[in-house]
Formats: sequence, structure tokens, C-alpha cells
Amino acid sequence: MWWKHTVIYQVYPRSFQDSNADGIGDLEGIRQRLPYLKDLGVGTLWLSPFYKSPMKDFGYDVADYCDVDPVFGTLEDFDRLLKEAHGLGLRVLIDLVPNHTSDQHPWFLESRTSRDNPKRNWYIWKDPGPEGGPPNNWQSFFGGPAWTLDQRTGQYYLHLFLPEQPDLNWQNPEVREAIHEAMRFWLRRGVDGFRVDVLWLLAKDPLFRDEPGNPEWRPGHPDRLRHQHLFTEDQPETYAYVREMRQVLDEFSEPGQERVMVGEIYLPLHRLVRYYRAGCHLPFNFSLITEGLPDWRPENIARIVEAYESLLTPWDWPNWVLGNHDQPRLASRLGEAQARVAAMLLFTLRGTPTWYYGDELALPNGEIPPDRIQDPAALRQKDRTPAGYHSLGRDPERTPMPWDASPYAGFSTVEPWLPLNPDWPVRNVAVQERDPQSILQLVKRLIALRQEPGLLLGPYRTYRARGGIYAYLRGEGFLVALNFTDRERALELPQKGRVVLSTHLDREEAVGETLRLRPDEGVVVRLS
Ligand code: GLC
Ligand code: CA
Repeated sequence: MWWKHTVIYQVYPRSFQDSNADGIGDLEGIRQRLPYLKDLGVGTLWLSPFYKSPMKDFGYDVADYCDVDPVFGTLEDFDRLLKEAHGLGLRVLIDLVPNHTSDQHPWFLESRTSRDNPKRNWYIWKDPGPEGGPPNNWQSFFGGPAWTLDQRTGQYYLHLFLPEQPDLNWQNPEVREAIHEAMRFWLRRGVDGFRVDVLWLLAKDPLFRDEPGNPEWRPGHPDRLRHQHLFTEDQPETYAYVREMRQVLDEFSEPGQERVMVGEIYLPLHRLVRYYRAGCHLPFNFSLITEGLPDWRPENIARIVEAYESLLTPWDWPNWVLGNHDQPRLASRLGEAQARVAAMLLFTLRGTPTWYYGDELALPNGEIPPDRIQDPAALRQKDRTPAGYHSLGRDPERTPMPWDASPYAGFSTVEPWLPLNPDWPVRNVAVQERDPQSILQLVKRLIALRQEPGLLLGPYRTYRARGGIYAYLRGEGFLVALNFTDRERALELPQKGRVVLSTHLDREEAVGETLRLRPDEGVVVRLS
């Protein structure tokens, strides 16, 4: 059950460490930085895609599921990275992108050659609608219709993302088997599991019905939000597909050495938890990102945690996330002082935390000049009002990791593919390693403290959620108290105890009946 006791750390390979002076991070760079990750204390790495790809969506457009793109290195580089990670006791999850391929994948190149090609049915092809336009009203996440006409054969193909990312036809058992074989390819190499891209989108309505309008949509909002996604998200067939993938993982699992599935699923909690029943080990719980960070109040966070906890059965293991490569940076959403409080929350809630590279430095959103925008989501929807999932460009949260004050922050020896954050000379790993009160030190302490059985396994109970304070108990032994305000606050404790960690990293001391919290301070109290 290693995946219940681990901390997952997401690496965006393009931006972690460049090892060959082309300005783009690579697998060898990640290997060189393994000691940093080991020292941080995380147990599991999740690597965003490094497959062969034309990079229209930076690797989420896969042209070969069983090879490494030259920009990231070679299969041998991957094997070396995996071996060394395992040698250090680190697990490795890789990204699996089963919903769509690149339009340059040999399967699609074949599929589009003729209507009777044996691979035609591997993708979703439809005749034009009655008026000659797209077959229905489905919209892409990246703007515009989810259908593109292929002149040669006179049919449209479906793509929920870019036209260069055609959706695979998951109804076709050959497609499912092909993806299972790709999974086996990596499982045989020794990966510990997969983070599965857009798991909740795999199945589509077999009748391809129009989606009903969304009354909240306004001109300028992303096209994808025009409709309620009754027919393109969370379809019943998805659960059978998840179950099959779980079986593939189980072929390679042994007690204590489970191969696991983490699912990218943006759904309300009551629908999210059904993916546990289908066999997904950790359906990503994004509720803190989608509902918590925009309304950062004790009452709201307690509501989210209680709602989630109350939906889990004893067989479901919780998980929590504060950031990823598709979401604005934590430090920019809350400011550094409250980002520290949020880190304490993440690492002391019940369940497996997932941490996004750079958040341990409180890295803010990068500043991307218009002529350096890379993200296709931004380029396609540039003139729209930003609102909602994927509508803002995602470059700001993908800037290079600043390691030290040497040129290009130790990330590369040439100008990186995205600009470094302007404050890199003062906000980098080396500076924070030397500063005993940096957020980097706080994250290390939190990850280490989390090994306490009470924090790892103890049940969650809300203690107080008002007046600017959110406090909760973990089992009998720990109370966590978080001050969401920039004023002093006091809290009556259920019993005496000892502060074992403060977000300010400057006190460890006995406490009596009253706990005093300084502005923006969170503490973990061991109850006596
Ligand atoms: C997921 C990924 C995102 C990507 C999209 C299409 O949402 O996290 O980065 O653009 O899928 O693959
Ligand atoms: Ca490189």
C-alpha cells in the first residue's frame, strides 16, 4: 500500500533541468536532480509526457506510445532514470494519454487515408450534419468546434482538444487493447503506475447527441463552457474502460508492489468517487483547486473536506492536490504567507498529497511576453475573456525551475524555452536551502512530520472553522490549527500539548489551554 503513504511530486519535464544546452528540460536532467527530490522527502515522481510527439500540446499529443521524444532523450535515458530512482527508494508514475493521439501518430495517418481503411474505426469519424457543417454542437477545450473536416474523405473527426489531437474511439476493442499493450510496455520496464490523462472523457455518447446550452455562458467565455457536458464527459461506458485498465495494472502487481492508477478527473465530488468503484486507486481530488483556492475561508475549506470525507468508504483512500501544469500557481493565488498555510493543510489532511514542482519555492506565475507564448490553449483563445478551465494560458505555471543564482538559474546554459521568473536570483533552491525559515524548509519538515502514524492514518475531525481559524484533529494525537487571516488569533485547545511545527519555523514549545496564532500562522500541535 505504498501509494497510501507516499507524497507524489509532479515534474513537468520541459522545465525541470536541461542537461544538453538546448533550453528544454530532459530525462537526464531529471536524473541529475534525483538527490534533490530524495532530500525533499517525496516518495513518488509523476512525469508529464516525454513520448515522441510533434509538441503541439507539449507531449499531450503522442505520436508513439512506446518511445521517448529526442528532445527528452532516449529509452535508455528513461531506463537509467527509473533504475536510479528505484535505487533511491523513489517510485515513478508516468503520464498515459489514452483519449487522443497526435494527428501524426501512424494510427491516425492510416485512419484518415480512406473510409474503409482497417484503422478508420480507431478514431471517431462522422458525416457532416444536415446543413453540411459539423455533425453536432460539441466544443473543444481549446476553443472552436470539436470537429474538423478531412477534405480527402469528406468526413469530420472528433477532437476534444486541438485538431492535431484526434480522439481515439474507445468503443473499439482493438483501440483498448492497443492502449493496454502500451501500458504493458512501460510496466515491463518497471514503472510503478500511470497518471491517466482526462480519464473522465474517454467515452462519448453513442448517439452523438447535441449538448444542451449552459445558461451561465456569456460571449467571451471559453467555447467549451457553452454547453452542459451531458454527452462528452463521465459517460457510463467509462467505468468499464477503467476496470479493464486496472486489470492490466493488476497483471503486474504484487502485494506491497502495486502498480497504480491516478486519474485526471474534473468532476463534482459525488461523481468523482465513483471512479474508486471502477478500480482507479487515486481519482485526483481537485476540489481544493476548483472550489477551495477561489474562496479561501475556513468555513469553505472545512465544508469541502467534510463533503469529501463523507463520500469515501473505508476502501477508498483520499488524495489532495493544490496545483498542476494546467492551473495558476498556488503562490499567486494566495500569496506566499497563505501558501505556507495551504502547504500545511495539504500535508496534514488524511490522504495522499500531490505536489507541483516549484511550489516548494512559492514560485509565482511567470510573466510571459506575448511574443513568447507557447501554450496552444492561450494562442487559440487569446482574444477571449479569461474564465474557467484551460481558458487562461498555462505557460505561467510551466516556467523553468530556478536552482541557483548562476546564469539561467542552473536550469540551462542557454535561454530557456519559457522565461525564468524575474525573481529567480533571489527565489531559487540554493537560496532557500540556506535560509532556515524558507518555504522549502517548511515543505521538507511537513513531509517528514507526515510520517507520524497519527497524521498518516488518523481519522479527520473538524475542530473549528470560523473566525478566521480552521482547526482539525487527526486521530487522538494531533491538532492542526491554521490562521487564514493576517491578524492574531487565539484558540482554546481540547487539552494541553506541544507545538511541533509552525509555518514560521521559529517555535517548538509547550502550549496550555490557549493556543495563540500569529498572523498567517499555521501550527501542528501534538496533544498530550
Ligand atoms: C489534460 C492535461 C493537459 C492537456 C490535456 C489534453 O488536461 O493535463 O495539459 O492539454 O489533457 O491532453
Ligand atoms: Ca535539453
